[in-house]
Amino acid sequence: IPVDPFDLVIFGGTGDLARRKILPGLFRRYCAGQMPPEARVIGAARAEMDDAAYREMIGEAIAEFGDGKAVDQDKLSAFLETLSYVAIDARGETGWRALAGHMRRKVVRAFYFSVAPGLFGDLAERLNAHGLTDDDSRIVVEKPFGRDLASARQLNQDLAAFFDERQIYRIDHYLGKETVQNLMAVRFGNMLFEPLWNSQFVDHIQITVAETVGVGGRGDYYDKSGAMRDMVQNHLMQLLCLIAMEPPARFDPDAVRDEKLKVIRALEPVQPHHIVRGQYSADPDDPESLPDYRTAVENPKSRTESFIALKTHIANWRWAATPFYLRTGKRMVARSSEISIVFKDTPHSIFGEEAGRHRNVLSIRLQPNEGIKLSVTIKEPGPGGMRLIDVPLDMTFADALGPDGAENVDAYERLIMDVIRGNQTLFMRGDEVEAAWAWTDPIIEGWTNRGDVPKPYDSHSAGPDAAAQLMRRDNRDWREVTP
Ligand code: BG6
Repeated sequence: IPVDPFDLVIFGGTGDLARRKILPGLFRRYCAGQMPPEARVIGAARAEMDDAAYREMIGEAIAEFGDGKAVDQDKLSAFLETLSYVAIDARGETGWRALAGHMRRKVVRAFYFSVAPGLFGDLAERLNAHGLTDDDSRIVVEKPFGRDLASARQLNQDLAAFFDERQIYRIDHYLGKETVQNLMAVRFGNMLFEPLWNSQFVDHIQITVAETVGVGGRGDYYDKSGAMRDMVQNHLMQLLCLIAMEPPARFDPDAVRDEKLKVIRALEPVQPHHIVRGQYSADPDDPESLPDYRTAVENPKSRTESFIALKTHIANWRWAATPFYLRTGKRMVARSSEISIVFKDTPHSIFGEEAGRHRNVLSIRLQPNEGIKLSVTIKEPGPGGMRLIDVPLDMTFADALGPDGAENVDAYERLIMDVIRGNQTLFMRGDEVEAAWAWTDPIIEGWTNRGDVPKPYDSHSAGPDAAAQLMRRDNRDWREVTP
């Protein structure tokens, strides 16, 4: 569906996110015919540069970070024509008049703050002072949205001084992922699952987001954040919400976000012995494993976690008796994001204990190889009597839908188009972000006050042994992390 004509200003237009994600994403939408010919994109950053140099920079970025397919050069030239550039000082006066000169009336105006959060307030204030926004203008902000409740509140206030909540789009790119939206489709589009979706039938739920990459060149940011702030407070929290929330009455932004908020507010504090923090180490004889975490972040005494596993509960009628186990880490054995709903044992086995006891598990695979798998117990084929085995009802979306079945839309592409459409369903509301920090803060304060040191774990492993123990103590196991 085409969207209305728009002017999109990207503050931080020469930065990593703009070059890797935002502009290659917009180019793909352009190729798909979704960007109207009147749409304009204006890069804004500190560097002095003219339109031609900016277009060249973005052309190169699209070649480097696009989807790997050959770039249609005619389309690329036409797309680059829609770009212009303004050198701007977020905290000064330079460039604002020039920017005003670029903006048109009667089109949707969107401003993407792809800059450090410390600049959000300055940008909002100057946009307002220079009369660049109207009632319908939208601003888009990126994580990290604060580093604790106090700073998130401050950011919310800084933005609220100039914009209504309905104009603020807080991105959590996990919400733009195809399969993440499928969580809602699976739960609320089928009769099959919802009646079983509660403590009476579900033994536990586990959410794993494993990455193989290390902290790379982001050591400075990462060492001040750690896995809890970087991944759990936002991405894993959003996944947990979509799994645990009550069915919203409608698929509209506030109905969905109200239900997510209730889940976050019902989360119980996490006990210290239900948390395992890890930091990846390296084997000097294995070049693939180098550098270890502390070398990567250039902080030999760092106590920041690159891995975390924890157990939490949701204190409401649906979930009180079902633990949720969350786990995420860098430099793990495989890149794999998966949510598993592990159902309870049957109340009684008519086949006797020797037949073996098996559990139904519904695994929702977010990436890579998106799909849904339901393990079902059947009789082991053959003459050996009644022995039970698990077999998967396996639906990899690529297989089920065929090569032409699904257009591969990156999270950022989808989310930017939603901004232009004015649809906030897949964006975090201010109260949601604050509630997530309100749960996160005491956890972090707890381990800081205890002087907790993360446990080392081997690069390309499943994390520290203590994480496995966390589950073993409850007679449960993590699902294997497989590519
Ligand atoms: C980002 C985190 O938000 O998400 C990164 O800051 C992480 O540390 C990334 O690597 C993971 O995103 P994806 O889409 O690759 O799973």
